[in-house]
Amino acid sequence: MIHWPDQRIIQLLGIEHPILQAPMAGVQGADLALAVARSGGLGSLPCALLTPDRMREEIQRIRSQWNGPFNLNFFCHQPPAYDSEKDKRWRAVLQKYYREFGLDPEARTPAATRNPFDEESCRIVEEFKPAVVSFHFGLPDERWLARVKASGVRILSSATTVEEAQWLEKKGCDAIIAQGSEAGGHRGSFLARDVASQVGTLALVPQVVDAVKIPVIASGGIGDARGIRAAFALGAAAVQLGSAFLLATETTISNAHRQALRSAQDDQTVLTNIFTGRPARGVINRLIRELGPISHDVPEFPHAAAALAPLRSAAEAKGQTDFSPLWAGQAIRLAREESAAEIVKRLVADVQGK
Ligand SMILES: Cc1cc2nc3c(=O)[nH]c(=O)nc-3n(C[C@H](O)[C@H](O)[C@H](O)COP(=O)(O)O)c2cc1C
Repeated sequence: MIHWPDQRIIQLLGIEHPILQAPMAGVQGADLALAVARSGGLGSLPCALLTPDRMREEIQRIRSQWNGPFNLNFFCHQPPAYDSEKDKRWRAVLQKYYREFGLDPEARTPAATRNPFDEESCRIVEEFKPAVVSFHFGLPDERWLARVKASGVRILSSATTVEEAQWLEKKGCDAIIAQGSEAGGHRGSFLARDVASQVGTLALVPQVVDAVKIPVIASGGIGDARGIRAAFALGAAAVQLGSAFLLATETTISNAHRQALRSAQDDQTVLTNIFTGRPARGVINRLIRELGPISHDVPEFPHAAAALAPLRSAAEAKGQTDFSPLWAGQAIRLAREESAAEIVKRLVADVQGK
């Protein structure tokens, strides 16, 4: 029996190890969640890019092979009204790339598909009652939040500042994910929006721990046992790791994507808004170099992604990642190419000093 220094999250979520696999939309499905869950951590299924039918399929896949706790993750941004002027400006910026690939810049593209939590997602939560639901970009509307709570699940959400953590506690979250600026993927910010003032994990976690009564889960830049021990020393009750699982055999990324992550160094990620309209950390590639990292021509989240989609497909068909978001955190070099079970096993053994 392994003794963890803090039992609060283990008990709250009913897991063996206080290691949460970060939900990572676009790069994983049920397989990664299942492998982590079976290894004693919390497996997560990101739902932001899934249609309700696909959500049900993936959840059923988890449920058919695993009886224990798992996490369903949702975005809960307020979708902005479509702004045709901004879209036109963005398309004009991208025109040269459309030409390079022989694509028609005037062709209509399907709308971006990052859906916020809605009535259908709420029904799915009520139907499957996962042990845990986590949110990114705040919390959903009160009436849905009340229904999620009533279905008996534990609610987590990301905070990038002390103020956000206090807001989430007041709204009834069971624990806070303190997401430092080292983290890969989108900043979970919903009150704070200034990219320049994002707080790092080492500074954020103890300040959030001091400001709230509920347990805090440290996230961002934690790549191995040293990071996990540090998070506990800062007062966290658990950790959430994303990049550490990116090269796991169960992720669904292409070979070219995998290769780009494999060769990324500590100083080769950046916070950029050009892929979706919201700041997110990813490996620097051609589009970021040429248009970013931050551009004021970008339509609001998630609309930026729609005009980029044909470019991304055309480039990916040629094995290029120049137009793909390569979300990853600053500790990506610590990621190992092993199965998720091996990753969890190694993390646990190393923390215990075995
Ligand atoms: C590829 C990728 C995709 C992500 N997608 C999501 C997501 O769908 N939902 C979410 O809550 N967080 C998402 N995140 C952020 C993670 O929850 C977490 O904050 C981050 O991975 C922690 O930092 P680390 O990557 O340094 O471990 C994503 C992160 C990555 C790397």
